[in-house]
Amino acid sequence: MNLWSSRFKKSLNETADEFNSSLSIDGRMYYEDITGSIAHAKMLGETGIIPKEASKKIISGLKEILEDIESGAVQIQNAEDIHMFVEALLTKRIGDVGKMLHTARSRNDQVALDTRLFTIKQTKEVISLLKEFINAITDKAQKSLDAVMPGYTHMQRAQPITFAHQLLAYAAMLLRDAERLSDSLKRTAVSPLGCGALAGTTYPIDRNATCKELGMSEPSFNSLDGVSDRDFCAECAFCLALTMTHLSRFSEEIILWCTSEFGFIELDDAYSTGSSMMPQKKNPDMAELVRGKTGRTYGNLFSLLTILKGLPLAYNKDMQEDKEALFDSFDTVKKCIEIFIPMLDTLKINKEKMRKAASEGFINATDCADYLVKKGLPFRSAYSVTGKLVAYCIDKGYTLETLPIKIYREASELFDEDIYKNISIEECLKKRISFGGSSPENIKTQIEIINKKLASI
Ligand code: ARG
Repeated sequence: MNLWSSRFKKSLNETADEFNSSLSIDGRMYYEDITGSIAHAKMLGETGIIPKEASKKIISGLKEILEDIESGAVQIQNAEDIHMFVEALLTKRIGDVGKMLHTARSRNDQVALDTRLFTIKQTKEVISLLKEFINAITDKAQKSLDAVMPGYTHMQRAQPITFAHQLLAYAAMLLRDAERLSDSLKRTAVSPLGCGALAGTTYPIDRNATCKELGMSEPSFNSLDGVSDRDFCAECAFCLALTMTHLSRFSEEIILWCTSEFGFIELDDAYSTGSSMMPQKKNPDMAELVRGKTGRTYGNLFSLLTILKGLPLAYNKDMQEDKEALFDSFDTVKKCIEIFIPMLDTLKINKEKMRKAASEGFINATDCADYLVKKGLPFRSAYSVTGKLVAYCIDKGYTLETLPIKIYREASELFDEDIYKNISIEECLKKRISFGGSSPENIKTQIEIINKKLASI
């Protein structure tokens, strides 16, 4: 029997009942539902809308239900949704006084409130995981300040960097993700409680009191918007999808770096898997799964946007579909960060392989051209001289470091013996002193900036 069935002659068809139910998804919001109801009951008592005694009974009944759910004494089952479940159980336990709880409230403002409270909690969890992850990245960066490697553009060796610099680029992305999520909380922490079904209520409710009680920042100022707005879900799903984009790019590089072709890193056995057929294999499954799971968070974002795009105001049952998508994105991001942290922490860096790749790819060619510029040649001419030298090296099997000075001087009189010092990889790194560049000093500054920003989120 549904709580709303008095107006109906027949009961709901069994399959329709199952189709209609959201309990398997929104059962996860039991804490938020009960907390919201406690705040509502308290306000009803304080404003005299229901007797103080009734309010007290309802609140203690709700607290007991919460305890029983948490201890496992009560199973969440046999109801249309978590709101109906809690209300029905309350009335069963405390009798008719429980029926006063839903005064001046609708499931429409109730579900909007619960979803917001749940989103706030989950968002904070993701932010703290992101912070932990960023700390793990900066720790790893500290250990790889001297790991010289080629930086790439178009997947071609381009200029010298350190592994630390590359890692900190990911820290920067994830830092923005944490900031973005933190900013979204401003919009999520708006209380819809008291919007009623859609048009507010005739009772003298105190929306500021419930808002404050629940730790939210302000009540929504338009009741139709309060019950219809799910853009906080879409915004959050976007922030999570973008976080996954960053994790996926990071995963892709980890997968590449641990191929025999690169060999820059080796994943710990505890975070690698083998093949059922090929005994030699050591596969980066965790990173591949993170990359793969990114797709579902894009799907979730797209579902949410599509659910909303044609909806007239105010509440429509379509909105019940919001939670599955958003919850899945939270679960996915959290699991991915949780596995990424120890995977990164335990991976071994092969500094020799990185160094070798750095010395073979003419990644000091820009520095060679810059040498000529400092001696007075316009950059474009210096570029052209160096390009010809690189072509010569490729042809004759030299690197810029091993090319005889005679050949340099034939290309330009401006070359002197000091060219070799100027194009040594360490020198090339040290000289990249522009703010944000690869010099070891800059890397230290980057870590300081990251730590400072982290402290302010
Ligand atoms: N289970 C519903 C949801 O998640 C709760 C709101 C139901 N409201 C209604 N008018 N049927 O959206």
